[in-house]
This record gives sequence, structure tokens and C-alpha cells, in this order.
Amino acid sequence: MASLEWTPALVLDLPVMDAVHEEFVALLGQVEAADDAQLCALWDELITHTQHHFDQEDHWMQTTGFATGNCHSQQHKVVLAVMREGAAKGAQGDLDTIRHMAAELGPWFSHHAQNMDAALALHMRRAGFDPVSGEVLMPEALPAEPITGCGGACSTSEDKEEAIA
Ligand SMILES: [Fe+2]
Ligand SMILES: [Fe+2]
Repeated sequence: MASLEWTPALVLDLPVMDAVHEEFVALLGQVEAADDAQLCALWDELITHTQHHFDQEDHWMQTTGFATGNCHSQQHKVVLAVMREGAAKGAQGDLDTIRHMAAELGPWFSHHAQNMDAALALHMRRAGFDPVSGEVLMPEALPAEPITGCGGACSTSEDKEEAIA
């Protein structure tokens, strides 16, 4: 059974971001439903998609006042590194690791989208940032100092320390 379904709770009212998220959910569902022969290829496809997904959000953050090492981008980096470890294990015939990671990715994504991505979407809307053109309509709404946290509820001082560490 899929560990993640596309539900209205995941919609963040930012069509470009929502479309990529919906694709992620569909691809993860394919990975979880894959037989052994298809698993590694579909996992690789999910990694390629996730790289694009995270690069896009990282780019939006860089354009709208986030520090390079902000906690949201750091989380993207860690998740991709773990997914690549899974691909390496899979290539050695260890398919259980990929299946285990896929089952964990569902709940991880739900939490990530509803916290870090939701905060980013809100930040982008407040600044009038158009993700398609890259235009910032309200630059005065951007922070004076680079944002090191995720810009949302997770941006506690603890997160900031982790992002710096
Ligand atoms: Fe995302
Ligand atoms: Fe994200």
C-alpha cells in the first residue's frame, strides 16, 4: 500500500510547487508498487525528479533572501544523499533498503510539505514572488538579513544552531 496519497492537505496554493509535489507522490506510489525487476529504475527516476524538485525550491530560496545553509535546503541535501545511498545498495542487490526508504519517504514528505514547503510558499506569496518569471513584486517584504531557518514554525533557535553546525 502506498505510504502517501495526494490529498487537499498537501496543496499549498502555489501551482508550480503543487504540480511537482503531485508528481513526487505519483512517482513514490510507483516505486512502492514496483516489482523487484522495476524497483531500481523507478527509484532512480524518483531521485532525478527529487533533485529537480529540491533544486527548484533551493533556487527560489536563494532568490528571496534565504542563506545558502538554511535548514530547509540542508534537509533537501540530507534526504537526497540518503536516497542515493539507497540506490547504491539497490545496485548491489539490496532491494529491502529501497523499499524501507520508500515507506519512510511518504510520512517524511507529508511533514516536509506541510511545514517547510508551506512556509516557503507563504514567504513567496508575501514577497509577490513569481516562480515562473523570477520577478519579486514586493521586494520591501523580503528580509533585511538572510534567513537561516526555514522561515516557518520550524525556525527555532535550535534549528538555526543545527543549520550552522
Ligand atoms: Fe517540495
Ligand atoms: Fe522542500
